[in-house]
Amino acid sequence: MKNLEAIEKRRTFGIISHPDAGKTTLTEKLLLFGGAIQTAGAVKNNKIKKTATSDFMEIEKQRGISVATSVMAFGYNGKQINILDTPGHKDFAEDTFRTLTAVDSVILVIDCANGVEEQTKKLMEVCRMRKTPVIIFINKMDRDGKDPFELLDELEKTLDIKVRPLTWPIGMGDRFQGVYNIYQKGLNLFAANKTKISNEIISISDINDPALNELVGDMPAAELREELEIIEAVYDAFNRENYLAGDVAPVFFGSAVNNFGVKELLDTFCEISPSPRGRETDKRNVEPTDDNFSGFVFKIHANLDPKHRDRIAFLRVVSGKFERNTFYQHVRLNKKMKFANPTSFMAQDKSVIDDAYPGDVIGLYDTGNFKIGDTLTEGEIMMYKGIPSFSPEIFMELENLDPMKSKQLEKGIRQLIDEGVAQLFIQQPGNRKIVGTVGQLQFEVISHRLINEYGANCRFVPRNYFKACWVTTENKEQLESFKRAKGNHLAIDKDENLVFLAETTFLLSMAEKDYPDITLHKTSEFMLELSDK
Ligand code: G4P
Repeated sequence: MKNLEAIEKRRTFGIISHPDAGKTTLTEKLLLFGGAIQTAGAVKNNKIKKTATSDFMEIEKQRGISVATSVMAFGYNGKQINILDTPGHKDFAEDTFRTLTAVDSVILVIDCANGVEEQTKKLMEVCRMRKTPVIIFINKMDRDGKDPFELLDELEKTLDIKVRPLTWPIGMGDRFQGVYNIYQKGLNLFAANKTKISNEIISISDINDPALNELVGDMPAAELREELEIIEAVYDAFNRENYLAGDVAPVFFGSAVNNFGVKELLDTFCEISPSPRGRETDKRNVEPTDDNFSGFVFKIHANLDPKHRDRIAFLRVVSGKFERNTFYQHVRLNKKMKFANPTSFMAQDKSVIDDAYPGDVIGLYDTGNFKIGDTLTEGEIMMYKGIPSFSPEIFMELENLDPMKSKQLEKGIRQLIDEGVAQLFIQQPGNRKIVGTVGQLQFEVISHRLINEYGANCRFVPRNYFKACWVTTENKEQLESFKRAKGNHLAIDKDENLVFLAETTFLLSMAEKDYPDITLHKTSEFMLELSDK
């Protein structure tokens, strides 16, 4: 068992939410508690404004910001905490799904007035598929929102997970005074402060202490005692194993912007959240305590300066110890590589590191060797699983507007696909390139980057597809007949897998009916089938 102490210390997680629920604000408050930043406002809002669909400068700026805030590491209570940022904008949902493969747990932020929103459901589905432990933070309790018990019911019903409150709000809206810590049986009342962590804390350790009445008033104190009784009667006692198995989500209440309930969340998170977990490869299960280093790339970021074509590949260390200037095996390319300047990310600063442990995310400078999903090892030939491609929702054919630049276009589009900006499906005859994305914004990003970084001018022509389904079967005869019948709607993805491009739900279900031995998968990672809810 190697590196046990370093592994036990690490907590690698992602904060996810529907846009505007308060993810950025909460991240910032956690960094404040961790001492990684001194005042709020330091973490830029990593979201693209809903109106900015044609504002390329905005996109460029956002790309810059998201590199800076992609991983935020800080120390707290003896733990080394790595927060992995996820884009809130729904057009970048796939980026978020991939980042979720690199975390060991998740904090889900919910707006107390809006409850469970569209993005929340999708993100939660991915967590459930992967059995990722989830903590829920119900934010904006300083505003009038839904009743806390109602919110808990809504979470259980719409997210299909059991919940267990570990803090409880005292009042709401104008009357919100703070939270009672059910888990640690105590009350800390903070003075609200939007930019700093306040030192004025009042503590009470016994809920029946008459001092509570003096502090919050007779009515709120009585209400709190009554509600805590209901909670104990209705919800099973908190069980950490059930949380770690992804069966129960502990719930915290608070107001991120006012620093209410954030310390309770962070303290309990440090206690209950999982240390780095192992991952499955195509050969075996790898444990963090395995002797040899291994890890996988889950995100690639292009350099902002178009004159420098290098990129940063984000690698999650799964096992062993990564060391600078040491040769590692790039499994897909069957090539030995070493890294002179691997970086870590401390809040907004990047710095060169000498080593990294399981749970850490490091940045590797890359000149085009990496694709999302690549594995590095000390020599063992195995590939990490679980980095899925989901079916895109918008499909367009890429047309070259400048035949003199077709090489540049080819190179540019391949590199953007490696970065995970979009998916590419090649159709025959004619090598037609169908680009698929989850949002419109990506097409603007692609056109803009192809021109600026590769000098290639293109145009997108809408194609009327609604799903890309990866095709598998054991029945060769049926496959041949399927290929003959559906030839015009078949394509090959970046890894040479056969894909069926379906025009409508009806045609998709007809194909499923006509070819019962053929499976049409909606994700490329077939074990992780996303249901079409
Ligand atoms: P996101 O990353 O999930 O998209 O959300 P973000 O943190 O940017 O928060 C969205 C808005 O909600 C922000 O207001 C933020 O100040 C506000 N907010 C966050 N936490 C709380 C809270 O506990 N209570 C209340 N009342 N508001 C909260 P904004 O007007 O969009 O931006 P800003 O000008 O305040 O930064």
